[in-house]
Amino acid sequence: MKIQVSKNGPYIVTGGVPLMVMEISHDDEGNCHGWQKVREYPLQERYALCRCGRSKDRPFCDGTHAAIRFDGTETAGDEPYLLDPAVIRGPELELTDYKELCVHARFCLRAGGIWNLTQRSDIPDARKTAIDEACNCPSGRLVLRDHRTGETIEPVLERSIVVIENPARGEHGPLWVRGGIPVLSADGRPYTARNRVTLCRCGRSSNKPFCDGSHIGD
Ligand code: FES
Repeated sequence: MKIQVSKNGPYIVTGGVPLMVMEISHDDEGNCHGWQKVREYPLQERYALCRCGRSKDRPFCDGTHAAIRFDGTETAGDEPYLLDPAVIRGPELELTDYKELCVHARFCLRAGGIWNLTQRSDIPDARKTAIDEACNCPSGRLVLRDHRTGETIEPVLERSIVVIENPARGEHGPLWVRGGIPVLSADGRPYTARNRVTLCRCGRSSNKPFCDGSHIGD
């Protein structure tokens, strides 16, 4: 399985990567709380996903990028995140926060926020909620590590691509690439493979091919 960025064009996905749409669900208090699969596309060996945001057949490319002369210049480094993240060290958990990768999914805001919860991670409920919030962060902005074991806490994710929708807020989110599927730049450079990354599908990110939250306000 792999995702090849094409120059000023779509993502070419090969290897039979499952593709689905998921919506962010909310609890009674309006907090983002989980994911609901609302559509699964028939499995295809190869397909092209729109990167410019203007296709009439989204999430698939319909060729519009050529007509609008989409500038899809990749600006991200090989690392999909900066090397100097903020680090919050709590009693049991350590949070690494790559702010530039925020896609505004907002799972991290519940119960006082993950930053606060990490600092109280010796309290079982706070620890559990912090882990839940980090594992729901689609872009991998938020990553937790357990001091006692030294292990990074990552969700188990099926290799797949999820089109993120947040209908409660009228937001169309990025493509959530799950399970470490390799992403290659248009000139063939591999980006660092991570368990979770999010790719821009509105064409407006300043960190292409990754999402930087610029879709908010679409
Ligand atoms: S990338 Fe082809 S229509 Fe958007």
